[in-house]
Amino acid sequence: MNYKIEKNTVQETLIIPLYARKMCTELYPNLYRDETAVRLFGEIDYDFSALEKKSRSLMQRFGFLEVAMRQNDLAFEVRDYLRAHPNAAVVNLGCGLDATGRSCDNGSCKLYNLDFPDVIRVRDELLPAGPREENIPCDLNDTAWFDRIDASGGAIFFAAGVFYYFLREQVRALVQRMAAAFPGGVLVFDAANEKAVRLMLKTWIRDAKIKDVGAYFAVADAKAELGPWDSRLQISSRGYMLGYHDLKDPSVSGFFRFLARVGDRSMNMQIVRIGFGGEI
Ligand SMILES: C[S@@+](CC[C@H](N)C(=O)[O-])C[C@H]1O[C@@H](n2cnc3c(N)ncnc32)[C@H](O)[C@@H]1O
Repeated sequence: MNYKIEKNTVQETLIIPLYARKMCTELYPNLYRDETAVRLFGEIDYDFSALEKKSRSLMQRFGFLEVAMRQNDLAFEVRDYLRAHPNAAVVNLGCGLDATGRSCDNGSCKLYNLDFPDVIRVRDELLPAGPREENIPCDLNDTAWFDRIDASGGAIFFAAGVFYYFLREQVRALVQRMAAAFPGGVLVFDAANEKAVRLMLKTWIRDAKIKDVGAYFAVADAKAELGPWDSRLQISSRGYMLGYHDLKDPSVSGFFRFLARVGDRSMNMQIVRIGFGGEI
């Protein structure tokens, strides 16, 4: 069996959030738990030593907390949508080895996990699809995957740490096509402004020695910048560190809460929610 993740690929980027979720489960169990990440950490053929060495640094730890909080935020949005649309499609765009869909399963929704074929091959081994669940190999920029989604009960799409690897034009085209194909659907994703995306590249991507990844898509004011894309879009946004949770937990230091405020305010780290308009 081959659970190998190749170095220097876009797909390798899934390792960092997976490792971050495992670390946060250990460091901040009151705020976040992902037993799947803890299990998978031991099952993947990947040299984690560089990440482990860096995990002692304060800034890396803050980065881990960011990953956990965005996953909590996106799960909140998924559960919120499912309350009104219990049979909806829950679609994880660029899923990597993330099991957020399952953690939101209400027993009647349909779960879809989409990523490049080589990632889905690994996922099929480590997280084989369960009942009402499908792992779909695809390039998100090729809309052939639209036909695989049963959106008859509505659809909530989420993308965690994915659109930083897309050109702005690609995100625009995808959102416009999704709005046309999935009326009544909602897309939620994390984003940040240009300054933050540059910093992210410096601390995460370069450290991971990933050379062929460009971060192109950045947002400061979601409503103003994305609204003109399509008149159907209903856009809102909340800070991704403090917009959903106050982080007032003894495990989170005052310094980290300060950094969280800086991230949300001056880096525009945010969860963007786009309603596609129309009814299902
Ligand atoms: C930073 S990882 C995040 C993985 C997962 N969302 C998580 O939070 O653990 C980015 C993921 O997006 C996937 N991805 C990037 N561009 C893609 C595309 N055009 N089509 C499909 N998957 C893509 C990568 O393969 C990778 O698994």
